[in-house]
Amino acid sequence: MRPHALIFLGAPGAGKGTQAREVATHFRIPQISTGDILRDAVKKETRLGLAAKAKMEAGELVPDEVVCGIVEERVSEPDCKNGFILDGFPRTIAQAKFVDKMLEAKGHGKPLVLDIEVGEDLLLKRLTGRLTCSVCGEIYNIYFNPPKVEGICDKDGGKLVHRADDNEATIRQRLEAYHKQTEPLIQYYRGQGTLVSVDGNKDPHEVARGLLDSLSKA
Ligand code: AP5
Repeated sequence: MRPHALIFLGAPGAGKGTQAREVATHFRIPQISTGDILRDAVKKETRLGLAAKAKMEAGELVPDEVVCGIVEERVSEPDCKNGFILDGFPRTIAQAKFVDKMLEAKGHGKPLVLDIEVGEDLLLKRLTGRLTCSVCGEIYNIYFNPPKVEGICDKDGGKLVHRADDNEATIRQRLEAYHKQTEPLIQYYRGQGTLVSVDGNKDPHEVARGLLDSLSKA
């Protein structure tokens, strides 16, 4: 059985985006990444982008009411009616409580929460080595998953870019925010009986297999 709403939890660089893309394609459901939505708003210099920019550059979380508003609006789109993946949301207990209420109100039931666990030593290398396609969003890594041609996306020839917050100082802040504000969600969802932990230290294909296997048993 496939649950209506999936939440991907994990530290920065755990592989939430990489795995969410795989699982979204597999089930043909949308991947909703609050990080991607916010980065797009920053790029377009919208009101939301201007409000979020400084927080993102500092590696801090954007205020709860801002991200909750984004998610509520996106989940109301017709393509979400058969399910969706929340990638990088919720990240605070307040956001998790908001999700519980929102899902209940929309008749989606309890979410299934997939926590991707990765050793802290790997995270820094994954993040400093990440490159993303500026056209399709495909994720690469100069150490673990390099493109065939340097700086160019294998899929559509788009230019690969380095994320502004993937520098060592900001990564440390992001990790601190994760430990203080997001890690408590593991306990929160364990208490609800909806948490599944997946070993994210392996090769991405193996991690994807582990996730799909967990979902087939859910
Ligand atoms: P966001 O974009 O969500 O960043 P993050 O949580 O820090 O997570 P990342 O996107 O960095 O990592 P990921 O787990 O998706 O890893 P990925 O698959 O790319 O948020 C950015 C900012 O926006 C936040 O700091 C905050 O300011 C704001 N924000 C967003 N959501 C918010 C919210 N809910 N509330 C408040 N503020 C919010 O993989 C990383 C790299 O590793 C890639 O290069 C990839 O190729 C490689 N890789 C992945 N898996 C493997 C593997 N198994 N083996 C080897 N390499 C791998």
